[in-house]
Amino acid sequence: MEKELRVSKIAEGTVIDHIDAGRALYVLRILGLTGAEGLTIAVVMNVPSQKLGRKDIVKVEGVTLRRDQVSKIALIAPSATINIIRNYDVIEKVKVSVPPLVEGLLRCVNPNCITNQPNEPVTSKFRVLTIRPLRLRCEYCGAELNHNDVVAQLAGGTR
Ligand code: CTP
Ligand code: ZN
Repeated sequence: MEKELRVSKIAEGTVIDHIDAGRALYVLRILGLTGAEGLTIAVVMNVPSQKLGRKDIVKVEGVTLRRDQVSKIALIAPSATINIIRNYDVIEKVKVSVPPLVEGLLRCVNPNCITNQPNEPVTSKFRVLTIRPLRLRCEYCGAELNHNDVVAQLAGGTR
C-alpha cells in the first residue's frame, strides 16, 4: 500500500523546498501568485522533514525567481532551498541566506523615520538582530521589526 504523500516532479521551473512549516502561502504571496495566472503550482504543507521536523514545499512550473524575491523568501523561510529545474533535473540548488543588513526591501514601522519622509528619498536599511525569531533594527531610527511585521509587509493582504 502507498503510504507516502507524493507530488509529481516538475519538468521546468522552480521548487522552493525546506520552507518553515505553515509558511508556504507567504511564499506564494511574495511571488505574487494566486493561481489565476494559469501556472501549474504544487503546494505541500506540514510534511515530515529530516532537517526541520515538518516543512512546506512550493513547486511552480515555468517560473524562475528574481533576486529580490529570493531575498524576501529568505526573511520568511530562512532554511529554504531554491531548486531550479530544467528537463526534470535539478540544475541549480541554492540555500537562501539572510544578509546582516537588509536594504530596500522593508519599510520602517516608525512614521517619523527619515526613510518614510516623502521629500527625503532614503533607502531603508535594517540590521538583522536575530533570524529565529526574526528581529531587525532600523539603522536610521532604531525601530524594531519582528516576524509579524515582515509577513504583513511582504505577504500581507494589501499591496
Ligand atoms: N523536484 C521536483 N521536480 C524535479 C526535480 C526535483 O519537484 N524534476 C523536487 C524534489 O521533489 C525535491 C526538490 O525538488 O523536493 C529538490 O530535489 P532533489 O535535490 O532531487 O532532492 P533532495 O536531494 O532531497 O534535496 P535536498 O538535499 O535539498 O533536501
Ligand atoms: Zn526607521
